[in-house]
Formats: sequence, C-alpha cells, structure tokens
Amino acid sequence: MLKRNVVLVGFMGTGKSTVASVLAERLGWSKIDLDAVIEAEEGTTIPQVFSEKGEPYFRKVETDTLKRELEGRTGQIVATGGGAVLAEVNRTIMLDNGLVVALTADVGTIINRVKDDPNRPLLRGNAEKSVPELLEKRKHAYDFAPVRIDTSDKTVEQIVEAIIERLSVE
Ligand code: S3P
Repeated sequence: MLKRNVVLVGFMGTGKSTVASVLAERLGWSKIDLDAVIEAEEGTTIPQVFSEKGEPYFRKVETDTLKRELEGRTGQIVATGGGAVLAEVNRTIMLDNGLVVALTADVGTIINRVKDDPNRPLLRGNAEKSVPELLEKRKHAYDFAPVRIDTSDKTVEQIVEAIIERLSVE
C-alpha cells in the first residue's frame, strides 16, 4: 500500500471527521482535522472566526493550513471543511498530495445530522432552508475527487472499509 495521505472532502454533515478518526485508527496513521487546527491556532471557534474576521479571512487561513499540513507529509488522514474544495488552489494541493475521497449524503440525511449543531455559521441556524440552497450551489464542487462514497445508508465501518480497499489498489 502506497503510504501517502487520504484527504476527505464533502458537504457539511457527510461524516468527514468521524470517518477520519476511525480510518486513522485502523491504519495507524495520524488524523488531521483542518477546522480543529484552525480553531486551535486562532484560539477561537469557527463561528467566531467568521463573525469577527469574515469568511475571506477564514478561506485564506484554510488554504494556508491545508498547504502546510499536506505538503511534504505522508501517512495522514486529513478531514477538510465543506467549503475547502471551492478554491482551485486547494483542489490542486489535495490532488497533488493524497487520495481525495468525497463523502456524499442525501439532503434529508445532511439536515438531520447538522440541524442541532450551532458550529456551522453558513447554515445561519436554519439547516432546513440553508442546506438545500447551499447543496444546490455546490452540487458539482466535489466532482473532482477520484473516489466518491455515499454515506447515507452506510455505517462508519463500511465507509472505512471502502476507503481502505481503494487505497490498496492505488
Ligand atoms: C464550511 C464547512 C465547515 C467549516 C466552515 C465552512 C463550508 O466545516 O469549515 O463552517 O463552507 O461548508 P464542516 O464541513 O466540517 O462542517
């Protein structure tokens, strides 16, 4: 198995962080959660970064963090934020440094998973309205990933197995 990195991308609520933890444990690789790294470095939460410094600032920090955490490193499972795929520079960094796996889920599943979570500033506290709108805007945003897994009806174990299988043929 070629030991590089796995980069998990996908809309909010598709299970990136959970899958990253279990996959990292299974492979004995390290897990990097980009939003958690940003929160630790900024010393505050993602919603606070958005409200105090604005989304463009967050996006810049996101690119810097992605670059620093991925380039020249291997053996990591990197969970990205749902919007990290929007900048072309980010997509290039991901594709150049790992196997990019897009996790997807149907709209109802996503709403159920995120509706009680206050940590997603782009949903503005109204997941029922915001999720379908944002999903529509981003409907092709994850298509660049060579691997796609629909997580709606799968257990975390099944998703992890599918990724390991794919890694072993890389
Ligand atoms: C965002 C998704 C969030 C976080 C930020 C912006 C987005 O990450 O990076 O709130 O633009 O979709 P999750 O996908 O982990 O919720």
